[in-house]
Amino acid sequence: MSNTAELYPVPPGFAGPTTIGASEYEREYARSVQDPDGFWGDAAKRLDWFKPPTKIRNVSYDLADFRIRWFEDGELNASVNCLDRHLATRGDKTALIWEGDSPDTEALRISYRDLHARVCRLANALRNLGVGKGDRVTIYLPMIVEAAVAMLACARIGAVHCVVFGGFSPNSIADRVSDCGSKLIITADEGLRGGKRVALKANVDAALKLPGTNTVETVLVVRHTGGAVDMQMPRDRWYDAVVDGQPDTCEPERMNAEDPLFILYTSGSTGKPKGVLHTTGGYLLFASYTHEAVFDLRDEDVYWCTADVGWVTGHSYIVYGPLANAATSLIFEGVPNYPDVSRFWNVIDKHQVTIFYTAPTAIRALMREGEAAVKKTSRSSLRLLGSVGEPINPEAWRWYYEVVGDSRCPIVDTWWQTETGGILISPLPGAIATKPGSATLPFFGVQPALVDADGTVLEGAAAGNLVITDSWPGQMRSVYGDHQRFIDTYFKAYPGSYFTGDGCRRDEDGYYWITGRVDDVINVSGHRIGTAELESALVLHAKVAEAAVVGFPHDIKGQGIYAYVTLKSGEEYSEALRTELVAHVRREIGPTASPDHIQWAPGLPKTRSGKIMRRILRKIAENAPDQLGDTSTLADPSVVDSLVKERYIPN
Ligand code: WTA
Repeated sequence: MSNTAELYPVPPGFAGPTTIGASEYEREYARSVQDPDGFWGDAAKRLDWFKPPTKIRNVSYDLADFRIRWFEDGELNASVNCLDRHLATRGDKTALIWEGDSPDTEALRISYRDLHARVCRLANALRNLGVGKGDRVTIYLPMIVEAAVAMLACARIGAVHCVVFGGFSPNSIADRVSDCGSKLIITADEGLRGGKRVALKANVDAALKLPGTNTVETVLVVRHTGGAVDMQMPRDRWYDAVVDGQPDTCEPERMNAEDPLFILYTSGSTGKPKGVLHTTGGYLLFASYTHEAVFDLRDEDVYWCTADVGWVTGHSYIVYGPLANAATSLIFEGVPNYPDVSRFWNVIDKHQVTIFYTAPTAIRALMREGEAAVKKTSRSSLRLLGSVGEPINPEAWRWYYEVVGDSRCPIVDTWWQTETGGILISPLPGAIATKPGSATLPFFGVQPALVDADGTVLEGAAAGNLVITDSWPGQMRSVYGDHQRFIDTYFKAYPGSYFTGDGCRRDEDGYYWITGRVDDVINVSGHRIGTAELESALVLHAKVAEAAVVGFPHDIKGQGIYAYVTLKSGEEYSEALRTELVAHVRREIGPTASPDHIQWAPGLPKTRSGKIMRRILRKIAENAPDQLGDTSTLADPSVVDSLVKERYIPN
């Protein structure tokens, strides 16, 4: 299994003066698990504290005495760590490079000094609008500089930001706004993606007509495209108008390390998306430390993570990690294939990007377009590549390594989750030889284990469910408004451990290979969607009686969405209705949730107690009707035959 022929050693000459090497990794990893207090107490010195912590960790996964606290008597402010402390030595260094959707739009370079002033002006404006410590602010913005400014301005005044991905629908915005009780929303007139306009402000308007959203007092609107929007006074205010004229400095709020920094909604296997709550000290420390070590960060690097700030990757590795490390971080508004499929590589050349971090789905899509679109660009500035969001298949890994990186640049395949705050398993590029498709070894302080269905810990080379047996500082602290759900979701399945929801195998070299979700979460192009969310969206449609959704292998997206739908009696199955249902789901959740295939299901395979047997539906969707297994416990086994007959067969 270890396949040593496929071992990619650290390239000679890769290491710089601050690169972590193999022996340092081994030594520090051992220290981090043997003496976590000493290790993380030292690591905490990388942040600036108003009051340095004396208590390092206070953790128990025991359900009777559950607590996760890090640096609990420390006080700091995240925006001060990302901005103020760099001003004396790096005020003129570029903090953010902004590259717009169209290559014809002039790129922006924002220095740390300028970013600090922008953040302070907005922070002052928010305070004037009555936003203070602990208040929730929803951010629904395109990939523009103001997205980072808004997050940091909230952090500065102790408001808890909740970024909602710009691709989400009014319903999804409303669900999130009402769950966290936002007081204010920051949005833009419109976004731009691949030359198309996205009606952000109109989506907010529609969301605020829905029930549960009346906590929102103010909507700040960034003028981005200049498109016409409907301003409803006095609720809606132009961002420029409230920010211009504000002072360039703003007294930061003193935050306890365990005060909330942000809420980010993510899908689970049941119910509505949950508000993952991250706190200030542990999160920031972990984001900054992992960013520096995993990307082997150097002062002169130009670092580009292509994620959207609406996802955790954008939080930790576009904004908080890089800025806490005084890095130059590129924000890209556009998409990989606009105006053509060389766009990523052209942006790399234009801004002399040295570290490039993207998702397997983008790599696979670009791989399909052939080498020429890559090879006509230089990419000689690159020295390190990263991957995140889903398992990367070895074929895509090799293409990324050989074609994009010209076999020069190590690849860091980083495994982590919204819940983990930062990277947990990844190569350190100067220390760990890589294998295509493996996230390799754990980061400092991270203790993975594999368990079987009964919770027995598996040793050596094995495959099972991935758990983490002890806490790390970036761990989420709660589900907003529902602490019990946090405990039930992550700590009940395997007592004493955090359950990741992922399956995984470990080879003889101790390398981890994530195999994907083992729960009812589908990972579509690196975006998490719960099957329960999709099913409830489908049954909201007046003609739908019942729906069951599963994932199936998809060449580009990793997984696609396969929905089985039963209509109410008397309704007619038609192509037009199929199209309508796809549009309906897009409307309810957002375009990333579009079903790839809807199969009409006159009946669903149910046990006698009425439970849908998803295992069977998964096999049919995978086009593996010979692997259905035992169907004898079904109430009506004949429904399976008709589903198999009518299944969608990819060409
Ligand atoms: C998957 C994104 C394999 C995994 C940071 C996890 C990965 C889920 C990898 C979290 C990787 C993420 N290899 N699988 N390198 N990175 N995943 O919360 O299934 O959007 O549980 O966080 O993505 O997705 P989330």
